[in-house]
Amino acid sequence: MKKILVTRKLLNSNEEKLKKLYDVKLNSNDELYSQKKLIEISQGCDGILSALTDKLDKETINLLPDSVKILSNFAVGFGNIDLEAAKKRNITVTNTPEVLTDATAEIGILLILGACRRASEGIEGARAGDWKWSANYLIGKQLTGSRLGILGMGRIGQKIARIAKSLGMIIHYHNRSKLNSEKEQGAIYHEKLESLLSVSDVLSVCCPASKETINLINKDSLELLPKGAVVTNVARGDIVDDEALIDALNRRKVYAVGLDVYKNEPNLNPGYLKHKSAFILPHLGSATKETRTAMANLAIDNITEFFQTGACKNKVN
Ligand code: DGY
Repeated sequence: MKKILVTRKLLNSNEEKLKKLYDVKLNSNDELYSQKKLIEISQGCDGILSALTDKLDKETINLLPDSVKILSNFAVGFGNIDLEAAKKRNITVTNTPEVLTDATAEIGILLILGACRRASEGIEGARAGDWKWSANYLIGKQLTGSRLGILGMGRIGQKIARIAKSLGMIIHYHNRSKLNSEKEQGAIYHEKLESLLSVSDVLSVCCPASKETINLINKDSLELLPKGAVVTNVARGDIVDDEALIDALNRRKVYAVGLDVYKNEPNLNPGYLKHKSAFILPHLGSATKETRTAMANLAIDNITEFFQTGACKNKVN
């Protein structure tokens, strides 16, 4: 039986499934393993079912035991893993696409709604009981008729586009390539990011984190947005330069932000906490029972497919 290290606690049904298939090292206390501990604890293992909280950088990967042949990441994103380092060591890296599209898009829409309609301030006021209805209390931005710029029109971006369109938003997008008309659903393609930003009343960051996209939303790119734009991020914190975004909020260049992901999670930049117009969530993108179950099942299936066939359709390196 292959030995698998599971770095984070999973839902019970998933752990039961793993126990039937593999000799598993579970993490019942859901401890956050340091890189050193991860290397130690993976001794003798054939594979690792990792999470986005595991920093599998070059140094860590180089110190993993030779027995480890697969890193099955329990996420669609894999910015936490140095793919090249894994490839050099002949370690297959896999992810969990598709199963989390709907749940993550729901949070993407929540971020847009929460930021545009001043949900943070509203919740605070309602809880404190210090509000009264008035014609100009917490006036927000209406979505109907606003232009939504989607940066990264993959599965999640497309699903956000579909929902936002039904809310009356006009959809624009920037992607490496133009989509076919079925996937585009009437959205307007911008070959250049600069062009997308100039029409984005609301920006939804949906692209993967990579060397090319780190700090793509920065001081210069934020200046291209219309004054009073709303910036939301459901993808990865690394894509946004926090200092630049907080500065844009301070200057009212940016009206509000809606964020689910951050650099250096869970220690988000304290600058966001000072802003009432920051609608912030603790990385809830895929957090539904259905989705987390499906993600873990897929991460397990990826391991099984790899050990049975030597290949895996969700291989990313
Ligand atoms: C992912 O899979 O990348 C999500 O962010 C997990 O919540």
